[in-house]
Amino acid sequence: MTALRDGAARLIRREDYCPPAYWIDTVDLTFDLDPAKTRVLNRMRVRRNPDQPRQPLRLDGEDLTLARVLVNGAGTSFRIDGAQLVLENLPEGDEPFELEIFTTCAPEKNTQLMGLYVSQGTFYTQCEAEGFRRITYFLDRPDVMATYSVTLRADKARYPVLLSNGNLVEAGDLEGGRHYARWVDPHRKPCYLFALVAGNLVCRSQPIRSRSGTDHLLQIYVRAADLDKTEHAMHSLMAAIAWDETRFGLPLDLERFMIVATSDFNMGAMENKGLNIFNTKYILAHPATATDTDFANVESVVAHEYFHNWTGNRVTCRDWFQLSLKEGLTVFRDQEFSMDMAGSPSARAVKRIEDVRVLRTAQFPEDAGPMAHPVRPDQYAEINNFYTVTVYEKGAEVVRMMQTLVGREGFTRGLKLYFERHDGQAVTCDDLVQAIADANPDSPLARLQPQFMRWYAQAGTPRVQISGQHDPATRTYTLSLHQSCPPTPGQPHKEPFVIPVAAALFDHEGRLLPGSERLIVLHEPHTEVVFPDVDSPPIASLLRGFSAPVILEHPLSDDELLVLLAHDTDPFNRWEAGQQLLLRRALAAVRAEGPVHAPLDAATLQALRAVLRHPTLDAAFKELALTLPAHTYIAEQLDEVDPQRIHAVREAMRTQLAHALHEDWIWAYEAHQDSGGYRPDAAAAGRRALTGMALHMLCLAARDSGNPVWPGKTYQRFKDATNMTDRYQALSALVSAGHELAERALALFHERFRHEELVLDKWFALQAGAPDRGGDILPRVQALLQHPDFHLRNPNRARSLIGTYCHANPAAFHRADGAGYAFWRDRVLEIDAFNPQVAARLARALDRWKKLAEPYRSQAHAALRVVAAHEPLSTDVREVVSRALA
Ligand code: PHE
Ligand code: ZN
Repeated sequence: MTALRDGAARLIRREDYCPPAYWIDTVDLTFDLDPAKTRVLNRMRVRRNPDQPRQPLRLDGEDLTLARVLVNGAGTSFRIDGAQLVLENLPEGDEPFELEIFTTCAPEKNTQLMGLYVSQGTFYTQCEAEGFRRITYFLDRPDVMATYSVTLRADKARYPVLLSNGNLVEAGDLEGGRHYARWVDPHRKPCYLFALVAGNLVCRSQPIRSRSGTDHLLQIYVRAADLDKTEHAMHSLMAAIAWDETRFGLPLDLERFMIVATSDFNMGAMENKGLNIFNTKYILAHPATATDTDFANVESVVAHEYFHNWTGNRVTCRDWFQLSLKEGLTVFRDQEFSMDMAGSPSARAVKRIEDVRVLRTAQFPEDAGPMAHPVRPDQYAEINNFYTVTVYEKGAEVVRMMQTLVGREGFTRGLKLYFERHDGQAVTCDDLVQAIADANPDSPLARLQPQFMRWYAQAGTPRVQISGQHDPATRTYTLSLHQSCPPTPGQPHKEPFVIPVAAALFDHEGRLLPGSERLIVLHEPHTEVVFPDVDSPPIASLLRGFSAPVILEHPLSDDELLVLLAHDTDPFNRWEAGQQLLLRRALAAVRAEGPVHAPLDAATLQALRAVLRHPTLDAAFKELALTLPAHTYIAEQLDEVDPQRIHAVREAMRTQLAHALHEDWIWAYEAHQDSGGYRPDAAAAGRRALTGMALHMLCLAARDSGNPVWPGKTYQRFKDATNMTDRYQALSALVSAGHELAERALALFHERFRHEELVLDKWFALQAGAPDRGGDILPRVQALLQHPDFHLRNPNRARSLIGTYCHANPAAFHRADGAGYAFWRDRVLEIDAFNPQVAARLARALDRWKKLAEPYRSQAHAALRVVAAHEPLSTDVREVVSRALA
């Protein structure tokens, strides 16, 4: 954490990029591991970059104690300039020289979890983005790539396992009960991919032979008590390896591929070369302790980190502005992988819908708020603030659009060319697009390439307005599309984007008009498209499969939406039609005067009933179709937001669904029971999701009727469940209905799982996220802060209680008395003092304060100002709150 006293954070600009003045070719590190004082000897081979003017060598360092610096074995003069070690008297000439640096650091005092830290008695490292400088002085930038050899020395009893990147070449005992291990990584890498782990861990090992006949060892390291929770991760890893070979021809390039799990981790997981380090949340999965969502997340994060081995590690980023080069592409790859794993077309669609929901509820608000930034940002004060849904999820949509524009095979060809050109290099987003375009010279991507790059340069969510005109005389249907993009901070005016719009026409009986399916590629502000042979006014189904990350303004009538909901052959747009209907009802009720009353009309309810009772639709799809548009998604449609009003409308809609479809929920619950053992596959998970939703609805209806039957059954299911998904769903149904059995169930749940950290996270999150009734959630959250199992310094625990309350429970957070914001303010400052990254994420809960109605707006403003004025304040939090206040 660098506290800036003058209050103005220094901005790093993309246009200032300059290649390094020196290269580091080899790094030999020796660690004497000790929690209080770890000694690090760093021996580097350094050479001047002849393409740059002669200048001193400036190495980054943070929270290090410097003991000694040697150049070619002899002492040398140096100075410390801010956070840099500056060497001026380097050997004349351009010969490489050996630079040795001795430093020490204090891993047990490292509460930021960046660099070398201790968690539950084990050493871990986290270096992305700029954590390596907290281990040793270095050119801490991704375009400096070196080969690493690492010697680890530590007490053998306390740290029996010693791991680093690459291959184990030597190990043995030392005196004083210590031992050592030496690792050599044959691949050149940037320092952000360095890792070491030392501790008392056990591992699941799996030898594999690849399709091309090479042998590899896969290992997952965890605490002994967690070994039985690693099977799913291992299967996911093997599936990811096979998939990348089949789909993209990319093999595993390592003899050993290791994953280590830790309970204390700022993010989800990290793709260090050959030694991925994971938040336990994304590795551990056992039917008794993990839900279907957890299983799916483990599968996709294990795959994501594995896929980075090519997209990120073999080809890396030139500078951190290019972050989406690896993240957008790798998210795209993990999304494709999960879709392929899901199997059936409808299961694929379910995954697509889930991904789009994330985009709309998290990325669209980001793109419309004070932190809006292009997929490739132009400037930042703190790079950690730019690991965002824009860089990741919108970045993945940009890659997906390229695939749409060149076709699936063309895309595979493009990636092949990308690796032929850039393997072993640190490159930019332009290089990726160039390779895909060059491999597909006749594609619209190649034709429109400079314009396509605007997706990387311009922030904000484009809007596409639609109007349609049927001409019976010529039997044509003319579609007019108009695109625009609202201003974002620093970008008042936007140029038109390249927007692929997948389209098809239906008649009013829901029949697809033959030959009407096509891809419209917008690249001008206005576009007209003529469909021939159309006898009567059709219904246009547009942006099918969500073919571009835009907001579509398409004035279909309710009846037309009902036709698409019943008949669209694109499952995504079928779901979307239902969501649009629900959104309209919600917005009408939010905007109406007076008390909220029954927002849903009979036709909508009947259509939803038809979806629920549909003979062939998947259970998972039904559950998504019957889920109301998210609070934040509704809020984004409004100029002024009254969170309590939105909450009241959504609650009224839920209540209506619960009562009007009561018999249908009973049917859904009973018809989707599974008899066999737990399997985390998409079909079974879909059935569990739908029965869970049914229980929520049945408990909700019982709250009003006072009938104890369903709450009783739910409580019973909670107790008898044979897997965490069913158990948690039942518990959550009771909690969310506010039933008196909820307290008993919560106590029982805690008692049973008090030794399972990840389950306790769920227990905290469930209470922090429960529907607010008369302001009862905040006092509960405050009480839970004092609970013996609450640990503020553990990021997962802090997020489960504080993060859930501030980010995921708008009605409880946005209180008329401002107490939610005061709570936010105090927690942000409290956490910032020891972990700025976690604090900065929490700080973003007030991003959209300017849209709030009074009294919320003034109170949020006041809380933000207190945080902004606080001394000291990390660069991380300062950047977030000063942008919010700007
Ligand atoms: N690179 C990691 C990923 O997305 C995310 C991460 C960033 C983890 C920074 C830790 C620190 O796969
Ligand atoms: Zn990633």
